[in-house]
Amino acid sequence: SYTQYTDSQTQLMSIAKAIVSPGKGVLAADEINATMEKRFSGIGVENTEENRKIYRGLLFSATNSQHSLSEYISGVILNHETFHQSNEDGVSFIDVLQKNGMIPGIKLDQGVTPLVGTNDEVIAEGLDRLSSRCSEYYKLGARFAKWRCVLKISENTPSELAMKENANVLARYASICQQNGLVPIVEPEVLRDGDHDLEKNQKVTEQVLSYTYKALMEHHVFLEGTLLKPNMVTAGQSCTKSYTAKDVAKATVTALQRTVPAAVPGIVFLSGGQSEEEATLNLNAMNQLEMVKPWRLSFSFARALQASALKAWQGKSCNATAAQAELLKRSYANGMATQGKYEE
Ligand code: 13P
Repeated sequence: SYTQYTDSQTQLMSIAKAIVSPGKGVLAADEINATMEKRFSGIGVENTEENRKIYRGLLFSATNSQHSLSEYISGVILNHETFHQSNEDGVSFIDVLQKNGMIPGIKLDQGVTPLVGTNDEVIAEGLDRLSSRCSEYYKLGARFAKWRCVLKISENTPSELAMKENANVLARYASICQQNGLVPIVEPEVLRDGDHDLEKNQKVTEQVLSYTYKALMEHHVFLEGTLLKPNMVTAGQSCTKSYTAKDVAKATVTALQRTVPAAVPGIVFLSGGQSEEEATLNLNAMNQLEMVKPWRLSFSFARALQASALKAWQGKSCNATAAQAELLKRSYANGMATQGKYEE
């Protein structure tokens, strides 16, 4: 029926709602090993499985005398490697997260591959065997998933082909997740590379999101049981004009109003290379705007939650507590920003 929810739909809705409950958001800790190479080389740490395990272990168990991570973090996205790792006491990371009150999620895309015939555009892969992978991760405790598609702004991109095909792959992924009890986080990321202005990014983001929701509709995806992970609408990284957090907030909320159905319970932004403070201020500005916002606006940051923590850690166990304090500080700040209450 179109008005009554099935049990599985009710479950998907309650997971999605929990992830975006007020004051909370998602920690994205699902970086592939090539990305960890970049993060670790920045602090002079060797990119080994053991070091990745130590680092993620300290993130997931972050507490101080007064606060624990789960006060601000509802869910954590893991990759396949981390999903099967345990901490030094032999407790699996899944158990660590669940015991600390956080929902484990799994990254399901398997990276991007060229879309031949386009101007260097790409499509995300990973649909083969996806249903059985979903059911295995569900059995192990995952309750949500993420799939990232990438779109690039240039004079003649994103092409219609890239927008259409990436939207379709996201919709297939979302449908397969829901059949297996996982809430799909749908991530069509418009990259910040380029010197385009805010208006250009807004237009492209609106187009990309329109293609995305058309495809989700065509695939009968249950929108109430999904979350969207978009880019914030910002100017390109090398744009010479400057904009305030309020400009970014208005452009972002306008783009979302025009394209994201009110049935979607929440929008969890990626940080996309913004500084920690910038990402927090932009999210806070959105939540302070007096505009129609039928969805919760929250975060699913990787870099904007981890940059200070990584820097404080430096690969040394004696710095673990300091690194955890940095993660807690950013998580608290972003938790406040989800309610428009962040103060610098
Ligand atoms: P950033 O917040 O570093 O952009 O990463 C979020 C993410 O998970 C991208 O898929």
